[in-house]
Amino acid sequence: MDRLRRNARRINGDPKMNTDTMHGGKQSTLDIRLINAPLGVEIRGLDLSQPIDRDTVAALRDIWHERLILLFRGQSLSDEQQLAFTRQFGPTELGPNNLLKRPHVAGRPPDTPPEIAIISNIQADGKPIGELGDGEAAWHTDSNFVEVPPAASILRGIEVPPSGGDTGFLNMYLALEAMPADLRAAIEGKSAKHDPTFSSGGERRPEYAHLNDVSQGPGPIHPLIRTHAGSGRKALFLGRRAGSYITGLPVAESEALLDRLWEHATQQVFSWHHQWRAGDVVMWDNRCSMHRRDSFDGRYRRLMRRTQLSGDRPV
Ligand SMILES: [Fe+2]
Repeated sequence: MDRLRRNARRINGDPKMNTDTMHGGKQSTLDIRLINAPLGVEIRGLDLSQPIDRDTVAALRDIWHERLILLFRGQSLSDEQQLAFTRQFGPTELGPNNLLKRPHVAGRPPDTPPEIAIISNIQADGKPIGELGDGEAAWHTDSNFVEVPPAASILRGIEVPPSGGDTGFLNMYLALEAMPADLRAAIEGKSAKHDPTFSSGGERRPEYAHLNDVSQGPGPIHPLIRTHAGSGRKALFLGRRAGSYITGLPVAESEALLDRLWEHATQQVFSWHHQWRAGDVVMWDNRCSMHRRDSFDGRYRRLMRRTQLSGDRPV
């Protein structure tokens, strides 16, 4: 928190910083609003469609490492501008369909850049333009099922329903730090398989067979406790529950331990619940947080576009 306050002072209070903080050709002042939750911060005063100077990007990165989720409201971006914003923090990553080398939904506009994932229930000519529909999405880390999962997701809300479709976030540093000692001892040094079979919406990707034995499923092995490359802090890394398996354990023992881990990690005390408005851009750290989505009334349209930053192999 001290570091965050320091950054707030740097950005708001230090005249030299203000002089240096040029944004879209104009001097810019960031307004940092802590969200009353164990993660999340709202940043005001930035137009993400414009280039951001290097000092401000560095300050945003520091705040992000501390609070895990950045919320920017009232933004109006094209895909290219969203990609340009993303690239200021590092190289972009492809969306999950590209990572898994599987086809997109039938109605995806063909001119959509490959780094853009469309999350939507909208149909064009009876074909879905995006993923996930209007259902609930269970707690997960994006693309945990690849060897090098993305470091970040930047989700832009373009059309949102009047209610529902909220996104919940969990602070996985805190989930680890607040873990009962016996549970922590039980997972220390252990790893889990991260199975790509099921989407966060609970649908089985048809190219993956149904298996009764999770120990035989596909997917990379990642440590249950990972060290964040940017912050140096340790976080609990669960990925997603469906198909998960703690390697080296009998399946029943793995299931019991995972159930206990998930019950612990998904407590409200570690969470922030975000109600979307059109124009919101939310950037979450995929290495130390998980997220889920509420269902919503399918009579309303919801349209989101997401970019991602490439990450490091979890260690
Ligand atoms: Fe997700």
